[in-house]
Amino acid sequence: MSDTANLAAKTRAAIETWMLEHREFPPPPEFAVQANVNDPAVYERAATDLEGYWAEEASRLDWYRPWDTVLEWNPPFAKWFEGGQLNVSVNCLDRHVQAGGGDKVAYYWEGEPGDRKTLTYRDLHDEVNRAANALKALGVKRGDRVAIYMPMIPELPIAMLACTRIGAPHNVVFGGFSSDSLADRINDSQARVVITADGGYRRGKASGLKVNVDEALAHTPSIEHVIVVKRTGQDVTMVDGRDLWWHDLVPRQADWCEPERMESEDMLYLLYTSGTTAKPKGILHTTGGYLTGVASTHRQVFDIKENDIYWCAADIGWVTGHSYIVYGPLTNHTTGVMYEGTPDWPDPARWWEIIERYGVSIVYMAPTAIRAHMKWGPKYAEQHNLSSLRLLGTVGEPINPEAWIWYHDHIGGGRCPVVDTWWQTETGCIMISPLPGITTTKPGSATKPMPGVDADVVNDRGESVPVGEGGYLVLKKPWPSMLRGIYGDPERYKATYWSRFPGMYFPGDGARRDGDGDYWLMGRVDDVMNVSGHRLSTTEIESALVDDKRVAEAAVVGREDELTGEAIFCFVILKSGVDAVPELGEELRQHVATKIGPIARPRQVMFTPDLPKTRSGKIMRRLLRDIAVGRPLGDTTTLADTGVVELIREATRSAADDE
Ligand code: PRX
Repeated sequence: MSDTANLAAKTRAAIETWMLEHREFPPPPEFAVQANVNDPAVYERAATDLEGYWAEEASRLDWYRPWDTVLEWNPPFAKWFEGGQLNVSVNCLDRHVQAGGGDKVAYYWEGEPGDRKTLTYRDLHDEVNRAANALKALGVKRGDRVAIYMPMIPELPIAMLACTRIGAPHNVVFGGFSSDSLADRINDSQARVVITADGGYRRGKASGLKVNVDEALAHTPSIEHVIVVKRTGQDVTMVDGRDLWWHDLVPRQADWCEPERMESEDMLYLLYTSGTTAKPKGILHTTGGYLTGVASTHRQVFDIKENDIYWCAADIGWVTGHSYIVYGPLTNHTTGVMYEGTPDWPDPARWWEIIERYGVSIVYMAPTAIRAHMKWGPKYAEQHNLSSLRLLGTVGEPINPEAWIWYHDHIGGGRCPVVDTWWQTETGCIMISPLPGITTTKPGSATKPMPGVDADVVNDRGESVPVGEGGYLVLKKPWPSMLRGIYGDPERYKATYWSRFPGMYFPGDGARRDGDGDYWLMGRVDDVMNVSGHRLSTTEIESALVDDKRVAEAAVVGREDELTGEAIFCFVILKSGVDAVPELGEELRQHVATKIGPIARPRQVMFTPDLPKTRSGKIMRRLLRDIAVGRPLGDTTTLADTGVVELIREATRSAADDE
């Protein structure tokens, strides 16, 4: 399906929502008066002096050496704060400890089985130093890549910060990804060490991670060592000389490791994300600009104060966790909550219990989670005292107004501003969001570009579209935490983000702007799906399907889903002689889950004898999407009925005629 057709379909749906949605929520006066940012002049200030604005934000960090230039912009390559030197772990830890803030809690951590740990800034500092020395002891040097594949346990941020201390870029791979996905990411980044755990807890069960690492390592020659945290105590195989237990290696190290003085533009980390091809992209973030962006937006959007208890309920394996569980909050000396498991274990009150236990004042979660809670009903939240909350955030996908209102009323007690934050792995930090002390919010709208962010909505020719019309979201000026490239592939970087509209960054999203200048995000307009806030490419899933030798061809589309935003719907042509039995549908769904990870498990597989294609062979996804929408989601496998087959054949014929 072409971007244009996709955009037209999304515009129709979004305009309907917009026309129905008139509610507005100005900032509560008592919130506005105390807010970190409550003077709208900030927008003007940033727009008229972009570099001055970002330089001011950057000076909130500790630099060993000040920068010589704020921005060097050779489109599409940006360099921020060139000449400046800093260390991320020092900004997150040492400077707070030195300023007398070492006893403050950095993380209240809670495991799914109910075990708990509290880490102060000093504890975290000491652990990070030990872990950094452990990496050095294994020969890891500045510039070497380290893969991290872990559950949500304290050793995960410790491992990341240890990497930053010695200047070794990390490559965190979400623990829900398969061994194949892990191997691909390790190979692309040429990591030397993997840090993992025996396993983690999910829905009351210990799932294995080390076992996946072992499988991956059969195909990853660059890896020399594996460090394993004992989390579940399950049986694991340890290879002599290669694999080391964290508890043997780390505690015996010294608690001081001299931090590397990193250049502002040194690589901080790689994080792989799905694009429109089968090969995930290694999004490259650097040091000074990234930290400036995340610390600044964390302070502004979440209105962070010294005594807040802040909880971002994402997984650190995604960019939300990198920026808003680890780097933004720690730079701002925030007390955070970190939780290992699922929201409904042992029952759907778990999250609300956590909010009550720690007195959480700010919570940040995905619309999918809100919709799941809506489905379970408000009674679980009502069992708990949520009066400590003062601000709510969402991220990862468009939020439907009903979910926004439910969150506002049932979780926020009607008194907390809601910040719907739009951004991406590539942007590094929040780009479009209310500032809770300034912005009048509207359910379903991410409202305004942040200060220092120059956004627009344009048509196919790159011209701004009038108010209310759908178009492509673009960003017109560089920003400090922008990706610096796709690892090892500058051409793909240019082609993916900068070629569609010359001189503008194209994130792949559709949007509309209303008469107040508020942005309404309409979802992806390319072949990227957003399932429960997780980004997956249709082609990635198609190639996992055709990897099964019984499959001749496959086409995948995202179909709207009440709970997960989009659900994965697969059209599969089997090789001749293979029977389209329901069990095969199940096996294929499982196969995709095994190849990519459980998050990619298709919701439904439909066997069909044909796929609608243009004469040049492009699959007509729009038609498939229409067909998918017309199918009930009861069974997970269906056989295309004659009506569908006819529709497909008809479409293919007329497309061929058109060309
Ligand atoms: O389509 C947009 C959607 O998520 C995509 C980015 O996915 P990822 O890189 O995995 O990062 C997710 C967390 C930042 C975007 O291109 N998206 C993210 N936030 C929103 C959103 N769509 C609408 N509204 C949002 N608030």
